[in-house]
Formats: sequence, C-alpha cells, structure tokens
Amino acid sequence: MKVAIHSLGCKVNSYETASMTELLENNGYEIVPFSEENPADIYIINTCSVTNIADRKSRQMLHRAKKMNPAAIVIAAGCYVQEEGEDALKDDAVDIILGNNRKINICEVIDNYIKDNKLNCDCVDLSHEKSYENLLISKYNEQTRAYIKIQDGCNQFCSYCIIPYTRGRIRSREMEDIMLEAMRLVKSGFKEIVLTGIHLSSYGMDNGKGSLLQVIKDLSGIDGIERIRLGSIEPRIVTEEFARELSAIPKLCPHFHLSLQSGCDSVLKSMNRKYTTDEYYESVMLLRKYFDNPAITTDVIVGFPGESDEEHEITKAFLKKTAFYEMHIFKYSRRKGTVADKMPDQIPDSIKTRRSNELLILEKEMSDNYRKMHLGREMPVLFEEESDIDGKRYLTGFTMNYIRAAVDILYTDGDAADEINADVANELNADSTDNKTDAKVRKGNDLRGKIRRVRFLEYKNGILYGKIVD
Ligand code: F3S
Repeated sequence: MKVAIHSLGCKVNSYETASMTELLENNGYEIVPFSEENPADIYIINTCSVTNIADRKSRQMLHRAKKMNPAAIVIAAGCYVQEEGEDALKDDAVDIILGNNRKINICEVIDNYIKDNKLNCDCVDLSHEKSYENLLISKYNEQTRAYIKIQDGCNQFCSYCIIPYTRGRIRSREMEDIMLEAMRLVKSGFKEIVLTGIHLSSYGMDNGKGSLLQVIKDLSGIDGIERIRLGSIEPRIVTEEFARELSAIPKLCPHFHLSLQSGCDSVLKSMNRKYTTDEYYESVMLLRKYFDNPAITTDVIVGFPGESDEEHEITKAFLKKTAFYEMHIFKYSRRKGTVADKMPDQIPDSIKTRRSNELLILEKEMSDNYRKMHLGREMPVLFEEESDIDGKRYLTGFTMNYIRAAVDILYTDGDAADEINADVANELNADSTDNKTDAKVRKGNDLRGKIRRVRFLEYKNGILYGKIVD
C-alpha cells in the first residue's frame, strides 16, 4: 500500500515523522510523495497545534489529503489530535486519530483499522504519562546533519504556550538508546548530530538519570561524530560550570540557541518565563567567556498581550546590547486554551507588524555584523550540497558556529569552468584538461559530507565565500 506523510510544526515532529516513515517502510508500505499526481492509499498528517493558525493549517492538510483520494484512509496524528481528542473524528476528512506518545503504534493502528474500521482512535491523556516513547531513526533525508530526539514534554507552562498540554510532562530518553541511535547514524554517514527535544534543558530531571551535559559528553566519545549541535536551550541551564565543561568538548558547536521571547522583565513575567533579562545576559556572557565568539541565537515574540511601545523599546535595546547572531521574530499569535489568550489588551496586528519589521531590520544588521567578523579567518566547513547562487554553482555548507559558507570549486557553465584556481585544481586531482569539467563535478560531489578548512574572502547576502585551504 502507498502511504504519503506530511509533517507540520517543529523539529521534534519532523523527527517523529521520519521515525514513522521508517516503521512503515520496514513493514512493507511504499512511501510516496504528498502530491496530487500520485494518490496514496493512506495519508498521515503529523499535525501541529501551537497556535490557532497551526490548528487551521492542520485541518486544511487533512482535507487536502482526503480530496486527493476520497477512498484513502486519512490519519490525523500528533498535537492537534492530542488537544482535540475524539472530537477530531467528527471531521469527515479524518478516519483515524493517533495522539502523541502513540506514534510508535502507527502500523498496528492501520492494521486494526483495515481489519475492523471501528478501531480508529489511539490517543491517551498525557498529563501523568511517565514513559518516553522510544521512536527511533537510522537514516534521514538530509545527508550530513541528523537530529536525535532525546526528550519529550514540558513542565514550564509559559502563558502563551499549549505545548505542555499537547506533549505532557518531561520524559527523558534512555542514555543507552541515544548512544545506539547516534552510532547507527554515524554508520549511515552522518557527521553532525543535532540534539532536539521539547524542553532539552530538562533532560534527566524526570528520572534523575544523567543530564544534557552528560549526553553531550558521552556522544563526543563516539568515533565518527564530528560535530554535536544543541537545539534550543533555556538560559538558566548555563552556569559557570556548564559553560566551562562544554567548552572542553571540541566537538560541541559553539552555537547556542537561548530562547529569550522578550527583552523586557515585565513582559517576561506576564509570559511566565522564569528568568530576568539580567540572568539571561549573564548566561550569554558566560558562554562568551568560555567560547571564542560563539553564535548566540534566539526567539523573540512581539505584540504579546499588554506589551506597550515602551516595553517594546526596552526589548529592542536589550537585543542590541546582547548582539545576537540570529533572531527568529514571531508576532504573538493566539492559542485558545492558554492563559495569554484570555489576557486583556490584545495587540492589533498592525502594531505587531510594525514591531516585527523593526526587529527584522535589527536582526539583519546584527547577523551581517557577526558574519563579517569572520572575513579573513579560516574555519572548518562541513559541506552539504551543491547550490545555485546568482547563476553560479557552489558547494555550500556550514561552519561550526552555523554560518553558511560557499566555495566555487564546482563547474560553472562553459568557459567559466576553466577559471578554477590552481589550489582547487590540485584538490580536484584532475590530470587531463579534457575531463576537467567532469572531474570538477565528481570532486564537488565527493566533498559533500566532508569537512575542509576554508579561508573566507568575501561576504554577500548572508553567505561567506572562500576557498579551501586544506
Ligand atoms: Fe507544534 Fe506540537 Fe511541535 S504543537 S510546535 S508540533 S510540539
């Protein structure tokens, strides 16, 4: 049978989609693209419910699937279902619902439905769930970077967020399973591991077994892993000891996504975030003390209910002072069932847009500054793919501190291919002029998934351009 899967929402959801895909493939299902041209027998929408808009998009995708093939079985999985419960089945487009922590049952649920189509719901209350759902992956569509989910659930209850309700309480994956998965991924050729979870910083706090730091240390001992990158962490985890110990792990990428949300203490308080801007700033300074110019990235919400122009200005000043490398700016978006949804003084969209635009300008300025600091420097780049930039072919990848880098060692078109410089020609090992272009193509492909030192010579539109030096 043909199955098409579509994933919405966050990296954790994508991980779970990849894992369900693998389970289905191993059970003989044929995975087909989610497209009108190739109707499937079964559609799975791994939904997101983070805002009212995300809910709407999830419903739209379910309807789109049913429209693609009205005879197909449509499965609504994940966060939207977790919040809606059996009500989701009232929707004509939905045949089966599969909640969080139950995705591991995907094949069983389909089998049962086909045998007896009354069995169409596998969704349980997660508010007291203690077990981690041990979904796993051994391959990924990307070629060089693999995500490993190590944790689920959240106990924070930020006032704008529904996730503690859709994902339940914190649950950590067994250390042994994380290591086994990392080893499998290394075997499949992955060099970079990105640790992900709903609230990564709370790893180990539910069962007292290990900590995020311990996971990183143990992973760094696995041969073949060249880089370990962290997903979003919260500022309170960054103590002097944490920063010092991390800095002693050469494989750890100096790239820290510290979720901020607002740079104003009164707004943080009404968001129920549990740190102040001073504490946040201290964490950033600790990371800067122990790492050489680390990439500090963050998320910011503008237009939170009640946020005044003055509070917005305070946030802006804090962002400037902190000098982030990248910021994801979100306009506050309501989610029914959250505390913030019921707050007075909801901000009109026009004001949110103005504030967001201001921060986007600041973001670009700070990002450019950070990237330009690397001109003239040499850094290792993990090459990922060939890209077309301004009509020329490049090999592109990322530095450890997550700057996109491009090297024009590949073929371009026609004569331009001959303009390759001597260093690169050596690199290419091409011994005949006639087959030079082919050799370049081959060599470019060869370098995918490899790490090379690159000297950065030029900066344009978010990319550092350079040449391979060894
Ligand atoms: Fe969305 Fe659920 Fe992730 S609500 S953002 S898919 S945890």
